Amino acid sequence: MIQTLTSEAAEAVAAAEAAQTVDELDQLERKALGKRGFVAAAKKAIGALPPEERKGVGRAINGAKASVEDAIALRRTTLASAQRALQLEAERMDLTEVPIRPEVGHGHIITQTWEELEDVFVGMGFRIAEGPHIETDWHNFDALNIPPGHPARDGFDTIYVNHGQPGSTLLRTHTSPVQIRTMLDQEPPIYIVAPGRVFRRDTADSTHMPVFHQLEGLVIDRNITLADLAGTIDAFVTAYFGKSFPSRLRPNYFPFTEPSAEYDLRQADGSWMEMAGCGMVHPNVLRAGGIDPDEWSGFAFGFGIDRLAKMKYGVEDLRDMFANDVRFLSQF
Ligand code: DAH
Repeated sequence: MIQTLTSEAAEAVAAAEAAQTVDELDQLERKALGKRGFVAAAKKAIGALPPEERKGVGRAINGAKASVEDAIALRRTTLASAQRALQLEAERMDLTEVPIRPEVGHGHIITQTWEELEDVFVGMGFRIAEGPHIETDWHNFDALNIPPGHPARDGFDTIYVNHGQPGSTLLRTHTSPVQIRTMLDQEPPIYIVAPGRVFRRDTADSTHMPVFHQLEGLVIDRNITLADLAGTIDAFVTAYFGKSFPSRLRPNYFPFTEPSAEYDLRQADGSWMEMAGCGMVHPNVLRAGGIDPDEWSGFAFGFGIDRLAKMKYGVEDLRDMFANDVRFLSQF
C-alpha cells in the first residue's frame, strides 16, 4: 500500500510540475487531494489494516499528501508569476512614440516683432519706456494738445472706464501719453521708445483690431530738426527690414506735433505704404511735460507693431494673428 501511495504521489507531483495553467493545477489538486482522491481513499483504507501497520501507513499518507501539496503550491507560484509577466507585457504601453523632449513653443508673432523692434532701437541708443493701459484723459488727450472739444478726440473711438468723473479715465487710445509721462519723469536729453497695447472702440476686420499695439518714439535734445527725424526712421527701417527702402515724409496733421508728417515707404510694386505718424513735438506738449520749448526741441513718431508684423511676414488678415490657432502661429 505504501508503494502504491508513493507512486501515486510521484505521479501527482510530476503532473503538478507539468501543469501549464493555474486552472490545470486546480483540477489536479481536486483530483489528488479531494474527497475522491488517492489520499482520501488511502485514509479510508487505513481502517482495514492491522493496528501495527496503521502508524507507518498513516505517516506515508501524510508524507504523500505533503509532497503533492508542496509541488502544487510551488507550481502555482511559478505559473502565477509567469502569468503576471504575460499580463504586464500585454498591458505595457508603447512609449517610443512619445517624443523624449516635448515640443518647445516660442513667442507670439507680435511678441517677436515687439522684441525685435526694441532691439533695433536699443541698438540705436534708445531706452524703453512704459505707461499704464488705463490712462487719465489728461495724459491721453489734454497734455498732447488735444483739449476737450477738440475734433481730434472724435477720431479716436475712445473706450472710457467707469471711474472718477465721467470721461476722466479711459483705456489709452495710443502710446503717445507715454511721451508725457516720460517728460514728467526725466530730464532731457530723452531718447525713448514705448511699445505697448492700445485700445479703440473698433470692429475687428482684416486691418483693424479693437486691441492692438503701437510703438511710440520720442527724442528731446538741443537743436533737433526734421532731418534727425527722417534719418532716424530711415536707419530704423534699414535695420529692421535688413534693406533700405525709398521713403518720403508726407505732410499731415497731428495735434501733438508741428509740423506733422506721415512717413511712407515705397514698396516693390511702386506703391507707397504709410508706416508711421511723426513730427516735431509741439511746444504745448513740451510745456505739458515740464520742458522749456525755448531750450529744447524734439521729434516723435508712432506706428503700429501689428501692421509692421503683418507686412514683414506677409500676413493677409490681422485677425489671424489673434485667433490663437497654433497651426497659424507656429509658422512664425
Ligand atoms: N498717436 C498717433 C496715433 O495713434 C500716432 C502718432 C502720430 C504718434 C504722430 C506720434 C506722432 O508720436 O508724432 O494715431
